[in-house]
Amino acid sequence: MVKDNKVIETMLNHKSIRDYTDQKPSDEIIEKIVRTGQQAPFASQLYSVLLSRKGNIQFGAPLLFTICVDFHKMEKIMEKRGWEAITNDISILLMGIQDAALMSENMVIAGASFGLGSCYLGAAPYRAKKIKEEYNLPDRVFPLVQLVMGYPAEEKPPRPRYPMDFVLFEDEYPELDDNKINEAMKVMDEGYLAQDYYEELNGKIPIKDDEKEDKYTYEDYSWTEHISRKWGQRYPDSERILEQLKECGFDVE
Ligand SMILES: Cc1cc2nc3c(=O)[nH]c(=O)nc-3n(C[C@H](O)[C@H](O)[C@H](O)COP(=O)(O)O)c2cc1C
Repeated sequence: MVKDNKVIETMLNHKSIRDYTDQKPSDEIIEKIVRTGQQAPFASQLYSVLLSRKGNIQFGAPLLFTICVDFHKMEKIMEKRGWEAITNDISILLMGIQDAALMSENMVIAGASFGLGSCYLGAAPYRAKKIKEEYNLPDRVFPLVQLVMGYPAEEKPPRPRYPMDFVLFEDEYPELDDNKINEAMKVMDEGYLAQDYYEELNGKIPIKDDEKEDKYTYEDYSWTEHISRKWGQRYPDSERILEQLKECGFDVE
């Protein structure tokens, strides 16, 4: 049997932290975390990280990182080389999102190795214009995701994940029969319910359609219902996100 090592233990112990102590991570630790983030594999290093330690940061965290897809720096470098970028913006964004996501998750793991907890905040793309103004971002920089970090003031067990046979498919994508789907849903729903996850967060997503009755209480409202309410109700058209991208100098229409 393969023995877990420190890296695996740290990664398997991951859980998003939504309550923090007042203790502030040192500059040295912050720099080490960002440096570790940078050492993630990259396609083109298409990212920048904004740091905030002021104001009311969500969940009382001492640090707020805003991870941006950044093509501005690349254009500056290319200019010096006498080149002009002709790549379409969707391709740039897809590459940049991968670069930025890999670097930010490296930061999460590095933070955890120092005993720091963290939680991503996913609303940044929809508030991109505001963030651009706040941090004086040049064009061609898009705030992808935010990440709060600090010393945890809560102790939580790791949250469940899909069973392995719902994720890892060798050689061929299998037919997902009812059994497999039900089993995956059960693992997720029972796992979140066992932690009273949504009740503690008071995180139920309301049903917008007046004709649809909300039959769920926190006794049976769990992840698969939660995630269905997200994808079944939010952002039906792309206007709003395209507008935010445009404000940041990306044209994907
Ligand atoms: C891109 C992204 C956006 C997220 N946005 C939020 C958010 O806005 N608020 C929040 O409380 N958690 C957010 N999360 C955290 C997820 O809810 C969390 O990772 C997921 O429920 C799994 O739980 P765990 O991280 O504790 O294992 C986000 C995570 C990711 C990766």
